[in-house]
Amino acid sequence: MPRQFFVGGNFKMNGNIETIKSIVAHLNDAKADPNTEVVIAPPSLYLLLTREHLRSGIEVAAQNVFDRPNGAFTGEISVAQLKDSNITWTLLGHSERRVVLQESDAFVAKKTAAAIDGGIGVILCCGETLEQREADKTIEIVTSQLAAVAKEVKDWSKIVVAYEPIWAIGTGKVATAAQAQEVHAAIRKWLGESVGSEAQEATRVIYGGSVSEKNCKELAGEKDIDGFLVGGASLKPAFVDIINARS
Ligand code: G3H
Repeated sequence: MPRQFFVGGNFKMNGNIETIKSIVAHLNDAKADPNTEVVIAPPSLYLLLTREHLRSGIEVAAQNVFDRPNGAFTGEISVAQLKDSNITWTLLGHSERRVVLQESDAFVAKKTAAAIDGGIGVILCCGETLEQREADKTIEIVTSQLAAVAKEVKDWSKIVVAYEPIWAIGTGKVATAAQAQEVHAAIRKWLGESVGSEAQEATRVIYGGSVSEKNCKELAGEKDIDGFLVGGASLKPAFVDIINARS
């Protein structure tokens, strides 16, 4: 079965009530390809507002979730609280959390297990620094980030892997279609070897890093690029063009 094209919008720490309502209204009215699965991730403060105003058929994701069910964990949000609010996805392992907030591969893996066990989908981010790429370590880094998760999670049916080279995030320096395809193919091969043939076939591997309405079509033409995780451009009307990259 062909993999459904998947486009996520990661608002990061951007937006306010007015701008988020306006992005949502634009998406509600847009002529979006019905074959694309669309998920948007506003800052946690605006998750409920987004869910309340967004049309059905588009899902909402948190940008992070904690691995404990409840308790004295100031500032954190649980999987059960997301479910209670009809938030059906979460991002995990974004490089901004791995780098700025020092999240380890093991911690990302524990949170992924908690989300999957709790029944929400995970957009699991991985990617290398420029230094690692130049040292020819891209595949090794990416697969070791994923291997930490494979230790904790056997069922990958609710995981979408987002390959996001750190050097391409927010820099305007997009990976070429060939560069991205090479890593996506390696991730798919790793899925087959380390998780199983079903995961190899069915897991969506999406690309993130300076995706725009200008470069999305070429990237979407690659056989192992199953969609995008979009940062900056998800705040703009052109996000719809990215959703429609395969149309
Ligand atoms: O989560 C999204 C990525 O970090 C990409 O961000 O599209 O602004 O480069 P960007």
